[in-house]
Amino acid sequence: MKAEADKPSPSEGQVLLKHELDEVDWLALVDVFERAPLGTRDPKLLEQSFRNSSVSCFAYREGQIVGAGRALSDRLTWTVIFDVALAPEVQGLGLGRAIMQDLQTRAGGAHAMLYAAPGKEPFYEHLGFRLMKTAMAQFANPELARDRGFTD
Ligand SMILES: CC(C)(COP(=O)(O)OP(=O)(O)OC[C@H]1O[C@@H](n2cnc3c(N)ncnc32)[C@H](O)[C@@H]1OP(=O)(O)O)[C@@H](O)C(=O)NCCC(=O)NCCS
Repeated sequence: MKAEADKPSPSEGQVLLKHELDEVDWLALVDVFERAPLGTRDPKLLEQSFRNSSVSCFAYREGQIVGAGRALSDRLTWTVIFDVALAPEVQGLGLGRAIMQDLQTRAGGAHAMLYAAPGKEPFYEHLGFRLMKTAMAQFANPELARDRGFTD
């Protein structure tokens, strides 16, 4: 399987990366996040998070949304990446790498930052990310963040 940005594909099963927010079925994307699994998202909050981001990327297979990612960027120095998620049936096919490349290229920051879902650090290390020694976060729900393995 090969992902190509904004090029329609004739071959069955091929994945298309798109950027158009108005085309997204947000309930279907909630389902992708649930099955990834990255938890249950409120569709309105999920949509607003993507709409308020600097760049977004959506993966479609045979017209169905199967993955996404988004980034905040000052388009000069820093890009911060969030919500990279793929449905289980398209994981391990190169799409995660393709979405990351698409976001980083279009966001344009010199440095990129993210926090990985616990256990997914090796994927990002494979793409060139390194653990930061001084990264810190203030989560809205500190207990939940600790229980999910994001903080000590
Ligand atoms: C994590 C995730 C985004 C990775 O995307 P993917 O499409 O499955 O990964 P890719 O096929 O693009 O892998 C790209 C490379 O990373 C490697 N890789 C993928 N997952 C890996 C892992 N968990 N550990 C180490 N390497 C990994 C692949 O072997 C591949 O290497 P290669 O290009 O040298 O052959 C995807 O599996 C996913 O959505 N998982 C569930 C949701 C999630 O945890 N998202 C991350 C939130 S931070």
